[in-house]
Amino acid sequence: MNIENTTALVTGGNRGIGAAFVLALLEAGAKKVYACCRDPNAPDLEIDSDDERVELVALDVTDEARINELAANIDDVQLLVNNAGYFAGTTLMTAPDMSAVRREMDTNFFGPLMLSRAFAPQMAANGGGAIVNVLSAAAIVPIPNMGGYSPSKFAARAMGVSLRAELADQGTQVHNLIVGSVDTRMASHVAGAKETPATIAKAGLRAVKKNLPEVDTDSFAVAVRAAQARDPALQERQLAAMLKMETISTGR
Ligand SMILES: NC(=O)c1ccc[n+]([C@@H]2O[C@H](COP(=O)([O-])OP(=O)(O)OC[C@H]3O[C@@H](n4cnc5c(N)ncnc54)[C@H](OP(=O)(O)O)[C@@H]3O)[C@@H](O)[C@H]2O)c1
Repeated sequence: MNIENTTALVTGGNRGIGAAFVLALLEAGAKKVYACCRDPNAPDLEIDSDDERVELVALDVTDEARINELAANIDDVQLLVNNAGYFAGTTLMTAPDMSAVRREMDTNFFGPLMLSRAFAPQMAANGGGAIVNVLSAAAIVPIPNMGGYSPSKFAARAMGVSLRAELADQGTQVHNLIVGSVDTRMASHVAGAKETPATIAKAGLRAVKKNLPEVDTDSFAVAVRAAQARDPALQERQLAAMLKMETISTGR
């Protein structure tokens, strides 16, 4: 799929990897980018909302009524970037109740599914288009110290594979991005070297242009995939050991 002259919608477009997607889309010649954020009036938007091709849109991805209202009010979306994500920083057993895990599933799985369902019809009408799911290395190996985050990203990865099959006949590409450790607010508790958000956005747009179903966006994601292939039992033990570490580090 060619990015030039397309209209894209990016969730969580106000900061981090989402903001990098907005910028990368503009640089690649997108006609319009709906930069969705929970609060378009927030003082700390990381995007240049002065660009006339950027339209700030208020959207909480857990709000089904708002998603459907948005899809009813615009009809030109061709590229959907399911980027918004939530990491509660708890574990499955130590969380005091189910609210953190439910919020992770709501944001990271049900949100992208609701958006895909709402926008797929107009993507079909607009020539097919593409859906990009910003996932995680935690979607290919369970990471115990990430609580419900890892299961939510596993579910979203499976969703992406199913949607790819379900939407093939209407010509909609679906891409799962396996993302390592990136220098954003979400990974602010992680020490060591991290990728730039721009690297992830660039890899994501490359996946769209070349129609690559699943892409490891950075060297950290590649290393996780390689360790899984080499010795999955050793990798599971190493990841379990992270539960007892005081500092989480990329080790680089
Ligand atoms: N950073 C990493 O190391 C890393 C690694 C693997 C995967 N990822 C994935 O990359 C994606 C982007 O995260 P990031 O690293 O850029 O972290 P971030 O800087 O914390 O950004 C997260 C974004 O998601 C938005 N968001 C959270 N809940 C939302 C909701 N209910 N509705 C709408 N927007 C919501 C946030 O909005 P607010 O600003 O309003 O909170 C923010 O725009 C996520 O899917 C994350 O899981 C990140």
